Amino acid sequence: MTSLTIRRPVDLHVHFRDGAVLRQVVPYTARQFARAIVMPNLVPPVTTAKMAADYRSRILAAVPEGQDFVPMMTCYLTDHTDPADLVAGYRDGIFVAAKLYPAHATTNAQHGVSSIDRLDPVFAAMSEHGIPLLTHGELVGPHVDIFDREKLFIDQVLIPVLERFPQLRLVMEHITTQEGAEFVASRGANVAATITPQHLLYNRNALFEGGLRPHLYCLPVLKRARHQVALRAAATSGSAHYFLGTDTAPHVKRLKEADCGCAGVFSAPVAVEAYLKVFDEDGALDRFEAFASLNGPAFYGFAPSETRVTYSKAPHVVEASIAVENDEIIPLFGGTSVDWTLQQQL
Ligand code: NCD
Ligand code: ZN
Repeated sequence: MTSLTIRRPVDLHVHFRDGAVLRQVVPYTARQFARAIVMPNLVPPVTTAKMAADYRSRILAAVPEGQDFVPMMTCYLTDHTDPADLVAGYRDGIFVAAKLYPAHATTNAQHGVSSIDRLDPVFAAMSEHGIPLLTHGELVGPHVDIFDREKLFIDQVLIPVLERFPQLRLVMEHITTQEGAEFVASRGANVAATITPQHLLYNRNALFEGGLRPHLYCLPVLKRARHQVALRAAATSGSAHYFLGTDTAPHVKRLKEADCGCAGVFSAPVAVEAYLKVFDEDGALDRFEAFASLNGPAFYGFAPSETRVTYSKAPHVVEASIAVENDEIIPLFGGTSVDWTLQQQL
């Protein structure tokens, strides 16, 4: 196949940040995606409908003129989330979901939830009103091996929560393990997962290839090869349990190439092409539209895009870096050639 025409993709997991970084990165996502679900881990976190509405306005102001793009907002859950506020924000069409960060699990998760059991009133309200719960699925603690975090989260958090709230709509964000993929597939249509390009393209060897590779460091961290194989099989299966969520997470170079570097891969400039590489290699281009443009909207209950886009198998070189203030952000595949290129929108 030398070209592929599909409905415009949707990114079900992005980080835009704020201020100068937001203005630089939003156009990359808006160029490729009809919509995106925007993560709330700002400083301070987006915990109220008012904060989310203001943040949405700042995102829309950064969308290039004439570009159709709909940002969809999420609420950052804390130990103090008021279920009534969350439901009101959802009913008003400001929040589409709520995000659970276990405290200290990742970037700006210090305000996250310290005791998940105490959130039962919030989960009850979410279950009753059909509000999706998005999880950063890692159990963290001083004695937890970083490579085991996802499986422990499934066993110790997700399974008990779903036992208490079997109807809860749940997206396990950025799954990284075979156990994550199998867990999602074993549940009903109310449970789904996003998968990032980096977890399909790489395994943990890539983090150390010829030296330390800070720009491939993200959380949850890349796992061993058997997990990568399982994730590729899941993503390319066509199953409605899995959909595109890049987890594009920009951090400036100074904070990535540091003694204690930040977690996050900035993939927005080349995200669709990166996924296409995987589907092409695995002979699954006929299932790409389901993963990229249909499954996510079906789970969340909005219509897929009416616009069609064509990707051609024609190489282009990805920008090596993106200037921001006095620093730069290094994109995935920066400075190298990729096989697929966005051609046209119909
Ligand atoms: C994300 C970020 O930087 O906001 N980082 C990452 O490595 N994925 C947070 C997250 O999704 O864990
Ligand atoms: Zn994320």
